Amino acid sequence: MDQKLHILDKVFRPLISHEEIDKAIDRVARQMNLDYADCTDEHPAILLCTLNGAVIFVAELLKRLHFPLIFKACKLSSYSGTQSTGSVRTDIPLSADLIGRRVIIVEDIVDSGATIETLVSQLKGLDVKEIRICTLLVKPEVYKKSIKLDYVAMEIPNRFIVGYGLDYNELGRNTRDIYVLDDTKTDKTMKYYVLFGPPGAGKGTQAGSMVERYHLCHLSTGELLRSEIAAGTPLGLQAKALIEAGNLVPDEVVEGMIEARFRSTKDVEGFLLDGFPRTIAQARALDAMLARSGESVTACVSLMIPDPLIHERIAHRANIEGRADDARPEVVSNRVKTYHEKTEPLIEYYRQAERYHEIDGVGTIEEVRSRIFSVMDQF
Ligand code: IMP
Ligand code: MG
Repeated sequence: MDQKLHILDKVFRPLISHEEIDKAIDRVARQMNLDYADCTDEHPAILLCTLNGAVIFVAELLKRLHFPLIFKACKLSSYSGTQSTGSVRTDIPLSADLIGRRVIIVEDIVDSGATIETLVSQLKGLDVKEIRICTLLVKPEVYKKSIKLDYVAMEIPNRFIVGYGLDYNELGRNTRDIYVLDDTKTDKTMKYYVLFGPPGAGKGTQAGSMVERYHLCHLSTGELLRSEIAAGTPLGLQAKALIEAGNLVPDEVVEGMIEARFRSTKDVEGFLLDGFPRTIAQARALDAMLARSGESVTACVSLMIPDPLIHERIAHRANIEGRADDARPEVVSNRVKTYHEKTEPLIEYYRQAERYHEIDGVGTIEEVRSRIFSVMDQF
């Protein structure tokens, strides 16, 4: 089983062989046969399979269980792509004839535990006699709920896996081994550049040529917000209401917009993030967002100019472009202050991650541009 598995935009490598899976299921089945030995045809256990992921596991389990049981299935879903959505949808509901029964829930994998928590609470409302949980896999680093997992075939690290019934966007269920997302090699490695610098450093001026040379999608948070609002998307409506009420748009909304663009933008080699992340919390959120798909920030490209030049350039820009936010000195000072307090700590953050590349922003547009290119050409 040394074959790689290619599904849509992702590459997976083998993690658990079918021989290992078989042994683990043998072990779990042996224990269950002991625990349910007192079931009779009059009082059979209920084996409740959660579709679709558990379909192969439950078939293998059924072959090995020797006590009287009735097979049932239900369908819940909480995943979209490689990510848990946190909310659980019921696609095929539980039927009501479970009163007084010993129910064994059969799951493919317990990740956050949201799915089994929902299922267990639904079952409790049906007056069942006993609920136990049997799962092929669990991610102990993620599962923090108090519901006991009675039968666990295997524990796995917190990685996204497919195969043996488990899917990536509904594909990849039909393999006999289990595969893990290979974050060292995706079919196409996207570049994620963070364009950094104080106000007036020349980010807007330089972004255009960077985007063109490296085939990037320019994501400026300001423009993104304006376009979501103009398009009347749910996020846009949320942002509009907040702005009109004089509030700041919260991090989750901005992050949601950016993640949606990462997913929907096609035919680029990467992204140039402009105006995001603005705080350490946002930088962490960006890292987490990328990590979920096995990706990471390529580089933080930082244009640096000294404070006096910030004020000089903004005053100049106010004269040419007539930007209202540039005109008043106290507004400018406030923005510079916010930059130093909230945004500047990102330098250290990216330095520690060995992603920080500082470029001297003093000079002509062409001079600064060629410095940027000589840094970015290496990625
Ligand atoms: P939970 O509700 O977060 O515990 O997630 C349980 C469900 O999420 C499982 O039944 C799977 O359908 C799905 N899931 C969780 N982790 C993975 C994974 O690594 N690969 C594929 N599906 C997963
Ligand atoms: Mg499932």
